[in-house]
Amino acid sequence: MNIAVDGPAGAGKSTIAKKIARKLGIVYVDTGAMYRAMGLFFQRKGISAEDEAAISRAVKEVHITISYADGQQKVFLDGEDVTIHLRTEEAGRLASLFSVYPAVRKKLVELQKELAAQQDVIMDGRDIGTVVLPDAKLKIYLTADSRVRALRRYQELKEKGEVWELDVIEKKIIDRDYQDMHREESPLRQAEDAVVVDTSDMDIDQVVQTVVRLYQDKAGKDRADREA
Ligand code: DC
Repeated sequence: MNIAVDGPAGAGKSTIAKKIARKLGIVYVDTGAMYRAMGLFFQRKGISAEDEAAISRAVKEVHITISYADGQQKVFLDGEDVTIHLRTEEAGRLASLFSVYPAVRKKLVELQKELAAQQDVIMDGRDIGTVVLPDAKLKIYLTADSRVRALRRYQELKEKGEVWELDVIEKKIIDRDYQDMHREESPLRQAEDAVVVDTSDMDIDQVVQTVVRLYQDKAGKDRADREA
């Protein structure tokens, strides 16, 4: 009974997925955090995002592992808990740059498939409905106008004491989407059987309710089909 959530940067995927996981009693898997940990790994090793040969070699050595406690995902890089280092703008930018390489994606997709095989999950990312969980029970493509996404990110940063210009944030978001949608390997795109949820004019609770309702409808339909 897995749920796949894909969509552009800042659409609110992780906020929504976390709440839905709690409501449905399933595990939230944040795949962006895994790509962020990879980015950190290459940065620490001093490997450039242009050096595919070095990246493909180094990726064989890295150990990224995940643990869950109280609904919180922790990411370990070679045994070190790096979770708190992953939610920065810079970590997101690095993740996007290094995630274009097949060797990097292969390693993380394997880990993601393993996690979904062990338990019911709601997993968010860019290629979940298309590549990682093509048989997910429900696929959501969560999106919102880039200005709205920038405004949300702006507020989030402001609360953390960081002051940014709205236009700068919007440009970063647009650049990241462009990069994620135009890479050769598993680009961000809507799966054919995904339901698009545009959250531009919705608050968090409305989005959560919409997705939970879609999930319950699917589960109900499956039950009816089985009983027929
Ligand atoms: O969801 P996020 O902002 O934490 O993701 C950071 C970057 O990682 C994103 O810009 C592209 C990459 N990513 C990916 O390629 N595939 C995923 N399933 C998740 C993230």
